[in-house]
Amino acid sequence: MNAAPPPATAARLDTVETSPLRDILALASRSDVVSFAGGLPDPALFDHEGLRTAVDQVLTHAPRRAFQYSRTEGDPALRAAIAARLDRRGLPTAPDDLLITTGSQQALALATTALLEPGDTVLVENPSYLAALQCFRLAGARVVPLPTCGGECDPAVLTEVVRRERPKLLYVIPNFQNPTGSTMSARLRQEVARNAAAHGLWIVEDDPYGELRYRGDPVPAIAAHPGAEDRTIVLGSFSKILAPGLRVGWLRAPRGARRALTVAKQVADLHTSTLDQAIVGAYLAGGRMEGHIAGLRQAYGARLAAMVAGLPEALPEGSTWNEPEGGMFLWVRLPEGMDAAATLPSAMRRNVAYVPGASFFTDSPVPASMRLTFTTHAQDEIAEGLARLGTVLRQSPHDRDMPAAAQPTAGSPGRRPR
Ligand SMILES: Cc1ncc(COP(=O)(O)O)c(C=O)c1O
Repeated sequence: MNAAPPPATAARLDTVETSPLRDILALASRSDVVSFAGGLPDPALFDHEGLRTAVDQVLTHAPRRAFQYSRTEGDPALRAAIAARLDRRGLPTAPDDLLITTGSQQALALATTALLEPGDTVLVENPSYLAALQCFRLAGARVVPLPTCGGECDPAVLTEVVRRERPKLLYVIPNFQNPTGSTMSARLRQEVARNAAAHGLWIVEDDPYGELRYRGDPVPAIAAHPGAEDRTIVLGSFSKILAPGLRVGWLRAPRGARRALTVAKQVADLHTSTLDQAIVGAYLAGGRMEGHIAGLRQAYGARLAAMVAGLPEALPEGSTWNEPEGGMFLWVRLPEGMDAAATLPSAMRRNVAYVPGASFFTDSPVPASMRLTFTTHAQDEIAEGLARLGTVLRQSPHDRDMPAAAQPTAGSPGRRPR
């Protein structure tokens, strides 16, 4: 029989590029590579003992419940525990305001499904989180970058862009942004809330890093500002503070969006894994979370300091970088004329990885920019990685293209960092 070929896959997926980070991350996962590339927590810092206790408790005391179907909105005890944590962080929250999601990535997908029609305009920071941009594009949205003037967007420019572009949604990562590591000022947060209320738009406030603050004072959430209460969806996650493999996140939604979000969640996966929710619930009930986060802050803060201390030696003259107050990322600008994507293959040959910044822009990419993650490795490995990076970036383009074996080595030969 002459079989007809299967029909084409959905055309809307053809317009969304696969993440260029995937290939880099696959290479960077080799054990001999110092990776400044992925937004990966250090697995050595997972609370192995606390997680084992939580898993044991669930399997011993609640196996029937933990392996059964459960409610779309999520486990009531877990919702209550998250609401109490948000309350303590200055964002008054009731358990019913929350929907447990399969990572905050799903929360982003649900907000997109619930709020956007094809052709709607979404305003984003530029650069921004790549998977969010993919999400909006897949929904057929028009993604418009928010102009930034050196640092963050001028509130007057924000108002002008909102008036001109008439966005339906504004997507921001106010704390320790991905990819730049920068934090939105209290003034701009207030202006975001004011503009959203004045011009009738939704805000998605994505906050997976907010609890990883190493210095300075927390800045109130956009959702806590007058005008933003009934139009802001806050996204949160246990990925960066507990374990990303659990895939447990949440969204905090105003009443007007809850029904649509719950229907979107039902369609997506009925509910987040009952077992994973139970493990996170038992972990929170065990009372170790705050101590664990304090430990992460101390460890990651020291790593950030080590990276900042090593950059002047590693980066070519004329480079600039920021010193984030928290999170996982630091943003570098190499001297004008350099291209971080072009130097990446030589860096990989030297067993050090980073992400070229150009990948994160919706518009006017900056080839000389790069994102460096400082959380994945301990200080000595960061120093080793920066030594390798320095060798690559300070070479002439001609030397860079030579095989690594023909070049002088950086750092101590034979060391094999994780
Ligand atoms: C800004 C931002 N939002 C959302 C996510 C998704 O995280 P998860 O789905 O693991 O909660 C990430 C992951 O790196 C992120 O950087």
